[in-house]
Amino acid sequence: ARQAIADHARLVPDFPEPGIDFKDLTPVLADPVGLAAIVTALTHGCSDVDLVAGIDARGFLLGGAVARELGVGVLAVRKGGKLPPPVHSVTYTLEYGTATLEIPANAVDVATQRILLVDDVLATGGTAVAAAELLGRAGGVVVGVAVIMELDGLDGRGTIARGLGAQLPVHAVTTG
Ligand code: PRP
Repeated sequence: ARQAIADHARLVPDFPEPGIDFKDLTPVLADPVGLAAIVTALTHGCSDVDLVAGIDARGFLLGGAVARELGVGVLAVRKGGKLPPPVHSVTYTLEYGTATLEIPANAVDVATQRILLVDDVLATGGTAVAAAELLGRAGGVVVGVAVIMELDGLDGRGTIARGLGAQLPVHAVTTG
């Protein structure tokens, strides 16, 4: 999977801000070998999972495939305002402003489910912590976080450890 990322990730200089090199994973996922390698890598060390939760929006690309690999179902964790009521909702703080994540309140029973959170990138960790709190509010238990890329220097892993407990496994296929 790391080779596929090295072969196919597209480096975009000065995005989203000057001085930042953005690693675009789009071509990796569009490549058949790349997608297969990434999906397999995301399931690494993963056992005893009942449900995969994919985070809006790029986590959706991975969540269904990872769920199939693990033989479980998938739940989309949506950004605010996309789902019909009733919903469970969590609003969290971003660098500028706030964001909201939602899941259906009674369409899927996540109570006591052991849930693997899946996303493309772990940056500050705020999204992962909010998603885990949201699923917890519905009675689910997040047992791991799996991402393709963990961004250096933002301590997303530390934020998750402080927010959700140091014992929660965080698996990143690569760093960047
Ligand atoms: C990106 C990424 C993660 C989140 C990580 O999503 O896909 O979900 O940011 O950031 P954090 O660790 O600092 O919370 P984005 O909000 O850009 O949404 P998108 O997938 O819809 O583009």
